[in-house]
Amino acid sequence: MTQSLLEQGRSFLKDTVRKTVDFSATAQSRGIGPPPIEKPFAEGTTRIDLPPQTGGWKTIHGIDLKTAIQNRRSRRTYRDEPVTVEELSFLLWATQGIRERIDEGHAYRTVPSAGCRHAIETYLCVLNVTGVARGLYRYLPLEHQILLEGTDDRLAQRIVGAAFGQVSPGEAAVTFIWTAVPYRMEWRYGGAAHKVIALDAGHVCQNLYLACEAIEAGTCAMAAYDQEAMDRLIGVDGTDEFVIYLAPVGKVAG
Ligand SMILES: Cc1cc2nc3c(=O)[nH]c(=O)nc-3n(C[C@H](O)[C@H](O)[C@H](O)COP(=O)(O)O)c2cc1C
Repeated sequence: MTQSLLEQGRSFLKDTVRKTVDFSATAQSRGIGPPPIEKPFAEGTTRIDLPPQTGGWKTIHGIDLKTAIQNRRSRRTYRDEPVTVEELSFLLWATQGIRERIDEGHAYRTVPSAGCRHAIETYLCVLNVTGVARGLYRYLPLEHQILLEGTDDRLAQRIVGAAFGQVSPGEAAVTFIWTAVPYRMEWRYGGAAHKVIALDAGHVCQNLYLACEAIEAGTCAMAAYDQEAMDRLIGVDGTDEFVIYLAPVGKVAG
């Protein structure tokens, strides 16, 4: 590894970049309206309503926060048991659910985000969820729905391949695949956008860990994957949107 690569990496972690960014030149400062809160979708696409929190989520009994934090660990082996659609609904709400819509370009969610920009999208590789056919889906936080992105008979093999052979995404009931849509953060912060997107992803995944503990499920953060293969799997362009993190989820012994 060259010295400059290490320097680049260390510099990415610092906030020195803020001193070099001309914030008066960001899209927001130039009066350009905010990008959409969630990636738009075409009418007529297959969308599935998720059981809303207002319905009570009767099967989600929960555990206290101290127990969830104490029990949390990375879990890479799962029982051959489905996750229910109500549990999936709970996990999506816990990781990206909308708390309050502020205006056209802003909404508070269950996780924090720098400048409330929320530059992350959630894709799902569904292999074993009750009431949801196998396939690739995208979460629509505003609608609290999942949208079918595609199907593939070799989904399990393909996701394992794209995860550099790590087997848990192929054995999981569902894998959360998070992408960054950088412009959503760049609109406000320009060149200072990128570190905070990575920080935001940490909050999202931590909520998934804790929420999994509440439903006798487990997860494992994964940052090692084949970038191009994973982008191809979910059908994003790798430039304006690309995968940054993933986490398989499956049932574990209670
Ligand atoms: C940013 C990040 C990336 C990780 N990437 C992987 C990964 O690609 N594969 C994996 O098996 N575990 C991965 N892990 C899980 C760590 O190995 C795990 O958190 C660590 O060993 C501590 O164990 P614990 O989570 O059970 O406390 C990752 C964790 C984090 C936070």
